[in-house]
Amino acid sequence: MQTKPIRKAVFPVAGLGTRVLPATKTIPKEMLTVVDRPVLQHCVEEAREAGIEHFIFVTGRNKAVIEDHFDIAYELEDTLRKRKKLTELEGLIADLPAPGATSFTRQQSPLGLGHAVWCAREVIGDEPFAVILPDMITLPGAMGTRCLQQCVETYREHGGNVIAVEEVPPEDTHQYGVVAKGEEFGASFAINGMVEKPPKGAAPSNFIISGRYILEPQIFDLLANGKKGAGGEIQLTDSMIELAGTQKFFGRIFDGKTYDTGSKVGFLAANVAFALARPDIEPAFRAELKRIVGTL
Ligand code: UTP
Repeated sequence: MQTKPIRKAVFPVAGLGTRVLPATKTIPKEMLTVVDRPVLQHCVEEAREAGIEHFIFVTGRNKAVIEDHFDIAYELEDTLRKRKKLTELEGLIADLPAPGATSFTRQQSPLGLGHAVWCAREVIGDEPFAVILPDMITLPGAMGTRCLQQCVETYREHGGNVIAVEEVPPEDTHQYGVVAKGEEFGASFAINGMVEKPPKGAAPSNFIISGRYILEPQIFDLLANGKKGAGGEIQLTDSMIELAGTQKFFGRIFDGKTYDTGSKVGFLAANVAFALARPDIEPAFRAELKRIVGTL
């Protein structure tokens, strides 16, 4: 199908991260490290892999360190060069987005995810774009690609709007946005309905919305209404439900594993899984882990 390329991704990073306090009192939760890099860096790598060229961060007060992370660190690089620590230096340079490939805009008050995405409207303009929730980080499954790349594949095939989904036990659905499943197309399906945090036992399926989206720019007209939804926040799901009245939505069943680093247990699990997936760290870490597990 003839589709426009997905060139831009929005990273909403203005939330308060209250579930992981006190760590997030002075450190943005997106800058907490999983193995040896900030959670947000993992997400930027996933976006790059999916062909994203422009990275748009919706930040808030006390998040300036995020901007510094995606800039050169002149003194550090100079010192590494003088000390001939070239592997470390090359690693830093390889991680940097190209000059001009990042934009930072502020959400002045944390009014909700929908509001945060709306704050990126001028930078996105009139083209389809990706949204990456940076507290969710993903490891590839058998296909070898991460979640956003798989969403882009579904978008290329069907166009419209695409949401990454994954299955959870039915008793957990009330905590999430849930989609209703229509016609199947391999790893994707048509979405027939969506609901944010349905009451227990009332979810239309056990496929939850899991933190990666491809959206058409008409979503901004709906987000502009600023209507508050669940939890008194401006919810992205509410505008997606409205947009689904005029445009198609597809769910992409992610082949891989997602970790919610916005919760303490999810953050710890992510560190274990990502360390075990790193060939340079895995042998020593596995031995350490075995020692700990042996004491349980
Ligand atoms: P969360 O609800 O998980 O983030 O939003 P939070 O509000 O920081 O978390 P807790 O519950 O207090 O611990 C998902 C993503 O949307 C961003 C968050 O930064 C997070 O990456 N977000 C959320 C915003 O940018 N602005 C908001 O108003 C709300």
